[in-house]
Amino acid sequence: MEIVISNSADELNLKGAEYFERLLLTKPDAVLGLATGSTPIGLYNELIKKYKAGKIDFSRAKAVNLDEYIGLSQSDIQSYSYFMRQNLFSHINIDPANCHIPNGIVDDIDEECRRYERVIKSLGGIDLQLLGIGHDGHIGFNEPGDSFEKGTHPVELARETISANARFFESIEKVPRRAITMGIKGIMNAKSILLVATGADKASIVRRALMGPIDPRIPGSVLQLHPNLTVLLDISAAGELQ
Ligand code: F6R
Repeated sequence: MEIVISNSADELNLKGAEYFERLLLTKPDAVLGLATGSTPIGLYNELIKKYKAGKIDFSRAKAVNLDEYIGLSQSDIQSYSYFMRQNLFSHINIDPANCHIPNGIVDDIDEECRRYERVIKSLGGIDLQLLGIGHDGHIGFNEPGDSFEKGTHPVELARETISANARFFESIEKVPRRAITMGIKGIMNAKSILLVATGADKASIVRRALMGPIDPRIPGSVLQLHPNLTVLLDISAAGELQ
């Protein structure tokens, strides 16, 4: 595991974007595993800047996202599909046909999970998986207690996750209770992982996930076992690391 600590958000976002830039230079058709939430927005802005400056070409890149809420259509402004278009896809030259996100409004959720697994497999797996981490240690929507062995599956969101995500909704009642998430197995199969965390409120979970015992009650702790993990932290999120 390599831990890189940045003094500012700008520095962290630039470093994060450079991982994608380097990958796409050497592998223009790379499969990018992407995340939503607050953490990656600045990094996505850097990717957009680099694209506009002619430094990154996404024309052959593929994207697979970690998760989607069950019950929200792709046009719903709270859906992760919408988030990705707003914050990245519509600003770069990635082919929309190459952007994959679980579909949260299918009748057969289990079949959708199997379809998503087939998509990832048909792309040859994920080259670089970007991750944020929840305050309870979730990665994707793999909540505490979920096994480390699952592929894409439906989940009931933890109370803490619903409260944390309520900031994006009109009220907490509007936050969907269920989601489809890539499983820990899928995440761990990525060839490389970039975990990003910012802010003092993440310092405790960052310490527990990276320095504590590997335990499904802290899903992010499994990342300690990944052979190619880079952790990008700002100085606040790194505050409890020795
Ligand atoms: C998002 C995701 C989640 C977030 C996590 C942290 O696709 O999978 O695991 O990374 O909830 O969210 P933020 O970045 O908003 O603190």
